[in-house]
Amino acid sequence: MNAVAGKVALITGGGAGIGLCYAKELLRNGLKAVTLAEINKENGHNALKQIQDEFGPDKAIFVKTDVTDKGQFEDAFKTTLEKFKNIDILINNAGIMNDAVWERQIGINFVGTIYGCLLALDNYLIKYRTDREGIVVNVASISGLERFQAFPIYAGTKHAVIGLTRAWGMDMHYSRTKIRFLALCPGVTDTPLLHDCLERNLGPAYQDIMKGHLPHLTIQSPENVARALIKVINEGQNGSVWVAEHNETYEIDIPSRQQLRIRMKDPDL
Ligand SMILES: NC(=O)c1ccc[n+]([C@@H]2O[C@H](COP(=O)([O-])OP(=O)(O)OC[C@H]3O[C@@H](n4cnc5c(N)ncnc54)[C@H](O)[C@@H]3O)[C@@H](O)[C@H]2O)c1
Repeated sequence: MNAVAGKVALITGGGAGIGLCYAKELLRNGLKAVTLAEINKENGHNALKQIQDEFGPDKAIFVKTDVTDKGQFEDAFKTTLEKFKNIDILINNAGIMNDAVWERQIGINFVGTIYGCLLALDNYLIKYRTDREGIVVNVASISGLERFQAFPIYAGTKHAVIGLTRAWGMDMHYSRTKIRFLALCPGVTDTPLLHDCLERNLGPAYQDIMKGHLPHLTIQSPENVARALIKVINEGQNGSVWVAEHNETYEIDIPSRQQLRIRMKDPDL
């Protein structure tokens, strides 16, 4: 199945890093057009130029967007419709890893993702998709599945993104909305987000923890995550959670609380 061909996508934070790679990989897989909803003008223009050079002049637009501003986010949807007529796929990708400005980080990583989901659900992916199904991919992280001591608040935002996706990914919602929700959790990836990360945490104790992690990290290319996105869109069941790391893409199963429950040992054993 190719759920990408002929469709229109909007990618937040699509001006750099993994987001830009998502845009290119989607276009390689037959996407009709993409909107890069990006806060940084330089990133946006540079990304647009790269896409135009590789795919031609009419495949992408850049809309300067701060995802923490719901009005700006909605304008990105409206501009997409004016230019491309439809909108089928939303990739909530914009994110920062910066516990030093944690309120802003929650705004971008979590509140921005919620705005995107609500705009998709309340209007844009319901009314303006090309055919019967809309798709929302929420970009979380492996730190949304584990304890990440160096960046506790970043990890919290990514746990929240997974929770949100699984709840909206229930079939009860799908039967009403026909919007498929997917969570993609990249492993450590070589992008600007990773550079200077030592300066973007809660202070020296956290820097020391991160310094301890750095030599042990296996860093993958953003192209690897972009290839994973295609697999997830084509194969992922509604509400499913996927990891992309070390050239592998795999789905994970999150146990129920009863399965996770710690049982007291039987004192007679
Ligand atoms: N790089 C990694 O190791 C890694 C690992 C797991 C998950 N992720 C997640 O993948 C996503 C993309 O990360 P990346 O590594 O490509 O980061 P990046 O810093 O390379 O790119 C992020 C892009 O988002 C834009 N952006 C930032 N704030 C924004 C806002 N308020 N509104 C719109 N755009 C905004 C930036 O300008 C930038 O172009 C993030 O959600 C991140 O948490 C990254």
